[in-house]
Amino acid sequence: MIAKQCPDIDVKVVDINPTRIAQWNSRELPVYEPGLYEIVADRRGKNLHFSTEVDQAISAADMVFISVNTPTKTFGTGAGKAANLEYVEKCARQIARVSTGHKIVVEKSTLPVRTAEAVKTILSNTGDGATFDVLSNPEFLAEGTAIDDLLNPDRVLIGGENPTAIHALVEVYARWIPREKLLTTNLWSSELSKLTANAFLAQRVSSINAISALCEVTEADVDEVAAAIGTDSRIGPKFLRASVGFGGSCFQKDILNLVYLCEYFGLPEVAAYWEQVVKMNDYQKRRFVQRIVRTLFNTVSDKKIAVWGFAFKKDTNDTRESAAIYICRDLLEERAKITIYDPKVSEAQIRHELELVMQGPDGRLSPVSERLLAENLHVAASAESAAHQAHAIAVLTEWDEFKTANFSAIYDQMHKPAFVFDGRNLLKKNQLSQFGFQYQGIGVSG
Ligand SMILES: NC(=O)c1ccc[n+]([C@@H]2O[C@H](COP(=O)([O-])OP(=O)(O)OC[C@H]3O[C@@H](n4cnc5c(N)ncnc54)[C@H](O)[C@@H]3O)[C@@H](O)[C@H]2O)c1
Repeated sequence: MIAKQCPDIDVKVVDINPTRIAQWNSRELPVYEPGLYEIVADRRGKNLHFSTEVDQAISAADMVFISVNTPTKTFGTGAGKAANLEYVEKCARQIARVSTGHKIVVEKSTLPVRTAEAVKTILSNTGDGATFDVLSNPEFLAEGTAIDDLLNPDRVLIGGENPTAIHALVEVYARWIPREKLLTTNLWSSELSKLTANAFLAQRVSSINAISALCEVTEADVDEVAAAIGTDSRIGPKFLRASVGFGGSCFQKDILNLVYLCEYFGLPEVAAYWEQVVKMNDYQKRRFVQRIVRTLFNTVSDKKIAVWGFAFKKDTNDTRESAAIYICRDLLEERAKITIYDPKVSEAQIRHELELVMQGPDGRLSPVSERLLAENLHVAASAESAAHQAHAIAVLTEWDEFKTANFSAIYDQMHKPAFVFDGRNLLKKNQLSQFGFQYQGIGVSG
């Protein structure tokens, strides 16, 4: 977006992964995002360059954005909660090593509050006279709507200490974003605001999902409840859709990171409060599978279930922490035969995600898991072919194309009674019932 909006600024995107860089330089970008290819194709080779030559790019830059991954730690202190900052630290050390003169270093990755302290300390020990300002500029885009979010953000947040450095970054964004949307704060408020924003968003999903469980046993309808409370201007209508649970690379990792920080700073009650958001999300995924099993007469063993959607949301090919991974794993462990269709996710990616989640603590698949993946997991080329001879359809991603599927033809080729478990409340119960389907949405009894 910077390359598009500021043709006079030279943007060099560098990554240590040569495959990814080759993809960025090709027609098949490594991420699917509506509108992204057009922008890349327009600016690439002009003021937008993709390369693996990290040292040269740092050395030539006035401003360096650190945008590397910050996954949850899987080992040592804080394993399972704290952010793994090794990639950020390596970047800081590399910047320190190759820099001369003055540079502005921008934290774009989502980081625990006070990470800038460590980044500053590493940068100030270069020994060759280079000087740095560190800014925090967290990213609020959502996958699936990234281009629009970058073009018309609700706000851009810039945290820092030196007004000159803050001003330099403000002037970049001010080329296309109204100044009143450019918020400046101290470093720590900026770092913490990103974790807080994701925690609040995920909390809304878990809150409405918690209510969906109550709706299913009381004949209330969660969509009606959401619409009713959403009209209250203090609550607002967005992010109130009950579903099979949130996914994506950020929500869970960022909340767990917040939980770890609270524990670290001696605030166990605050930690427990936020951890419940993740626990509720896990409960919602488990509950969905239990409902399928219960409804299919208490066994799905050897029954065929069509899974529509594997990406964590529509309009992306990202499957990280997708609810579909855990639901498909649980269905396979119940010995169901599942056939998955997703318009943007490849079979290799689906198999990879399920292999990872079915591995034991030793990183190996048990003979049973290996057999289930080989014999009970299939991937189809269309929603309709996935449903061929199926006992049930489980809708796990809200892709628009599912709404206009040929339900009459699909019903005819399924076992009867033909069930639809709509994990996104995407389809219309009345319409499906007319074709003969037994339909169950989230947060509705029946
Ligand atoms: N994906 C999102 O929607 C989103 C939104 C807001 C914020 N964020 C945050 O942005 C950060 C990156 O997220 P992502 O989804 O793009 O992660 P990603 O894993 O898809 O990409 C990170 C890239 O950094 C590269 N990398 C790692 N170490 C490097 C190094 N030393 N030098 C050069 N390149 C290096 C990796 O090879 C990888 O290609 C995370 O902190 C995330 O929380 C992501």
